[in-house]
Amino acid sequence: MTTSSRLGVYIHWPYCARICPYCDFNVFKQRRGDEPAALAAAIVADLEAQAVLTGPRELASIFLGGGTPSLMDPAWAADIIAAARRLWSPAADLEVTLEANPTDAEAARFEAFAAAGVNRLSLGLQALDDAALRFLGRNHDAATGLRAAGAAARAFPRLSLDLIYARPGQATAAWADELRAAIGLGAEHLSPYQLTIEAGTAFDRAVRRGTFAPPDPDASAELFDATQAVLEAAGFEAYEVSNHARTAAARSRHNLIYWQGDDYVGVGPGAHGRLTLAGVRQATLAAARPADYVARVAETGAGFASREPLDAREAAQERLLSGLRITGGVALAEVAALGIPPAQIAHLVALGLLADDPERLRATPAGRLLLDRLTRELAA
Ligand SMILES: C[S@@+](CC[C@H](N)C(=O)[O-])C[C@H]1O[C@@H](n2cnc3c(N)ncnc32)[C@H](O)[C@@H]1O
Ligand code: SF4
Repeated sequence: MTTSSRLGVYIHWPYCARICPYCDFNVFKQRRGDEPAALAAAIVADLEAQAVLTGPRELASIFLGGGTPSLMDPAWAADIIAAARRLWSPAADLEVTLEANPTDAEAARFEAFAAAGVNRLSLGLQALDDAALRFLGRNHDAATGLRAAGAAARAFPRLSLDLIYARPGQATAAWADELRAAIGLGAEHLSPYQLTIEAGTAFDRAVRRGTFAPPDPDASAELFDATQAVLEAAGFEAYEVSNHARTAAARSRHNLIYWQGDDYVGVGPGAHGRLTLAGVRQATLAAARPADYVARVAETGAGFASREPLDAREAAQERLLSGLRITGGVALAEVAALGIPPAQIAHLVALGLLADDPERLRATPAGRLLLDRLTRELAA
């Protein structure tokens, strides 16, 4: 782990207008009534309580994720952002990201979110094809997505687009065209994710019933390779497995906080946090249900239901998992607790899965395709 005092703040807003059939995030159908306002107030109180724990830190990033935080009242987002800025010392280049779904109703409020202090929008476009959007159970069509992307580019200095590929039957050439169309929307950052069938989701049940089959490993690998090639040709750097940036400044500072092992406060239902307190890396986890989270904040101040120290091996394992995802890799010194035999590293270098670097473990592009195998062999 790094020793810097830089801090990220993650805020989980769990409500969604509709629950997508592939999604296993901590999400709840949007509520009317008082619960969302009570949650926003509890999040501010939680930030105040956790600032007492962390002490003064430089605030590098605020990330409002979900769920669908673009459904929240922009005035609540303004309160939450103002609280974080007041409680820690904002860096000159503080990144404030909001995740948004591309419906017209949400796009109409982008200006208000920008006025609340959001300077980076992460838009869940997912696809630019109506049939694919229907398959994914989305509540917007491609034309609405394009309108929202345009509104986002006008309202925010920084824009990132999420896409989901490796959909059943997806042809590589059609995906490459769709990706080029997304690149044409002018975002500085793109996150194309391979569709993952998560246990317990509606898609998991559909695949078990035989309703559809995801692409086989060869077809998925071909789609992954096409993704890398199209984005590289357009000048995007693959600085992480599924994250591509037009310039170094366009990388997600927030995700780099996770991947580089820096500290982050996690608030909101189900949020994870990682805090180094008195030299010990600690993992926090908040209650998943909004009502339980609000009750916890009312009782104890901070919203986390657990705060546990990570032992040296667990902390090193985390560093390995995230470090291998990014091009910069992870310093060998940070994973010393795993006691990886040098011969094991030499073997993976010889296979072309790790770069030949005496200081750091860095996955090669081929290694990043086989991350599960790499981490299994290194953290055995
Ligand atoms: C936490 S979601 C929030 C984004 C926002 N609510 C939306 O749906 O547009 C972040 C991103 O994860 C991706 N994602 C979620 N579940 C996925 C899955 N099972 N397979 C691939 N990508 C997934 C989607 O691209 C999504 O935009
Ligand atoms: S993908 Fe986004 S909108 Fe859909 S359920 Fe997950 S968080 Fe909600």
